[in-house]
Amino acid sequence: MAGELSPIDKAKFVAAKRAADFVEDGMRVGLGTGSTAAWLVRCLGEMVRDDGLKIRGVPTSTRTAELARDVGIEVISLDEARWLDLTIDGADEFDGDLNLIKGGGGALLQEKIVATASDQMIVIADVGKAVENLGAFPLPVEVIPFGWQTTQALVEETLISMDVLGRNATLRMNGGAPFITDEGNYILDLHLGRIGNPRQMALVMNQMPGVVENGLFIDICDKVIIGYGDGRIELRDINEGTVEHDRLDFVESDNLFTDLAE
Ligand code: 5RP
Repeated sequence: MAGELSPIDKAKFVAAKRAADFVEDGMRVGLGTGSTAAWLVRCLGEMVRDDGLKIRGVPTSTRTAELARDVGIEVISLDEARWLDLTIDGADEFDGDLNLIKGGGGALLQEKIVATASDQMIVIADVGKAVENLGAFPLPVEVIPFGWQTTQALVEETLISMDVLGRNATLRMNGGAPFITDEGNYILDLHLGRIGNPRQMALVMNQMPGVVENGLFIDICDKVIIGYGDGRIELRDINEGTVEHDRLDFVESDNLFTDLAE
């Protein structure tokens, strides 16, 4: 079944599988959102089922909560957990300092709260997410629906004084209606091209009335595990300053792939 996966899905899978090695018995684990994080949840579900791994998971979206329950992971709220040992999540972009753009899946608010409440955050990603400068991926900014067009105008005006290439903000849609986040908010996608100063951008965005949170994760990620379509894995640790290389061979009869095909 793994043979039918695209190279990008294989890359996501190997990154997720390697990240699962960092999860230990008794941990409270933040569970990210998106297709790469979904692989991680499936891997952890398998470890719970087959190896008796005992963890409690705090999901970052209703989608992830549903998947986690489906695969047998005990799900608790962040308020029940209070603090987490580890969060593992995907990303839309990461740079050399392991700063991130997240929110392509619309879950950036819960993702940032959960990652920040963790001893450690590991990002799992295919190599296509690695960038020199953040910003080619549109920066998601969560805004409250009240007066969103005024907020959009304010955001675009503020961008005039920022070090970016583009200044267009678009409302994320879901079919013919605005995309609604799990918290009942809207998302503006900022088409910036390149963000010269991500730290400043993150601070400035969050100062605007109507903005709830932005998708820049600055100094939050500790490690990134990069997967390649041929099974290679690269592990970068920003705190240790180390880079490790590894390889993971597929087991094609793996239940994970069978489940996915259903
Ligand atoms: C969701 C996210 C995701 O982690 C990000 O969009 C990456 O998704 P994928 O793993 O599907 O490429 O931030 O809000």
